[in-house]
Amino acid sequence: MIRHRTSLSLLGLLGLVTAFTACRKETPEETPDAGPDGPTWTPTPYTVEVPPTLSAMPIPADNPFTVEGIRLGRFLFYEERLSGNNTQSCASCHAPEVAFTDHGNQFSVGIDGIAGNRNSMAIQNVAWESSYFWDGRAATLEEQILQPVENPIEMHETWPNAVAKLEADSVYPTLFLRAFGTPGITKERAAKAMAQFLRTMISGDSRFDKFMRGEEQLSVEEQLGFQLTLLEGGIPPAVPLGQGGADCFHCHPHGGGRFTDGILRNNGLDPQSAWTDLGLGGWTGLPQDMAKFKTPSLRNVALSAPYMHDGRFQTLEEVIEHYNSGGHPSTTIDPNMKFTTGGLQLSAEKKAQLIAFLHTLTDTAFVNNPAFHDPGPPTLE
Ligand code: HEC
Ligand code: HEC
Repeated sequence: MIRHRTSLSLLGLLGLVTAFTACRKETPEETPDAGPDGPTWTPTPYTVEVPPTLSAMPIPADNPFTVEGIRLGRFLFYEERLSGNNTQSCASCHAPEVAFTDHGNQFSVGIDGIAGNRNSMAIQNVAWESSYFWDGRAATLEEQILQPVENPIEMHETWPNAVAKLEADSVYPTLFLRAFGTPGITKERAAKAMAQFLRTMISGDSRFDKFMRGEEQLSVEEQLGFQLTLLEGGIPPAVPLGQGGADCFHCHPHGGGRFTDGILRNNGLDPQSAWTDLGLGGWTGLPQDMAKFKTPSLRNVALSAPYMHDGRFQTLEEVIEHYNSGGHPSTTIDPNMKFTTGGLQLSAEKKAQLIAFLHTLTDTAFVNNPAFHDPGPPTLE
């Protein structure tokens, strides 16, 4: 009898504990625990999955991934209230279907109708970049993200105003609490959340990736194009080590999976007398940095026209013609350009192979991934 009663009450107690735990798991979203400085929250750690064709992702110690941070960052990336007149979001110039560039526009137009002088950059695998913008002026992604909001020819808003708009919203204060554990909206937190979201935007599932993983074949033409990118440019004897290749690998290496090493270079677009945008040299002021721009990835280039920092080339054919020419000599042109030896001298057949290869880097799973698309107005879930 006694035994029976004990086990009953023990069962009852267990039931209560289970119900309580289950309840706490489901409801803290509505009722965060009150901490000494107001409500607190424990964000959920998130482990990012990196495809095997890419190297391990560097993640800054002061901005680890959390489920809630990524979710908030996605809302903010599509948030038009971050702009002065509430009409422009980051995604206005970084649209999914064109590898997160600006809809084929050579230059982006900000909220006041003023165009900039640089082509919007693809957002993909940004976690691996070591500097940001065409001229590499931002050292971290978090630092980069703070700039478009206050840029007078882009979103043209002040961060205090933008933060006030988010504070006045019925949902954002809770989303920030959930993402960072304590209440408070700041520009630094907004940038951290967006950086988390952007770092999840990984492209590593193109036909080329599947080929490297042994899951899919490429055509002979595509494979020959890939080989050309790995061969030295130039024809002997003019170029003693020349292999009749396209020489792309020096600057757009496929090792590490990104098709760039992120180094800023001058690929000979203009003669020195025609330099207008000085790129890296524009902010360092150093003669050896003049007209150098960040080497972009070749991933998804078939989607992200036009090309180069100023969007001067409309097609990949024009890009190949530029490299085939060898580029314009200047004091800072990269030695890997074949400007002294009559260019690459590629046949029409080789040019077609190169173009075919570049198309294998199109990652439709990446651009169509619903996790990177507009989530609609912010909600608590
Ligand atoms: C008006 C169009 C426009 C808007 C709005 C805009 N961007 Fe950009 N973005 C650009 C352009 C143009 C560049 C290249 C600018 C440069 O190099 O000076 C760029 C560059 C970048 C880069 C650098 C990528 C790299 O590899 O270096 C990132 C990341 C980025 N933008 C994210 C964002 C985020 C996040 C927002 C919203 C807070 C945003 N952009 C809003 C046009 C825009
Ligand atoms: C000497 C280094 C170097 C070599 C060699 C090189 N590139 Fe580039 N590439 C760059 C740099 C730097 C840029 C950006 C230049 C700028 O915008 O001012 C660039 C830009 C590009 C772009 C434009 C991408 C975009 O997002 O706008 C494409 C496409 C491209 N390169 C393809 C190739 C191919 C294909 C080859 C081989 C035939 C090649 N590159 C060889 C350094 C190089």
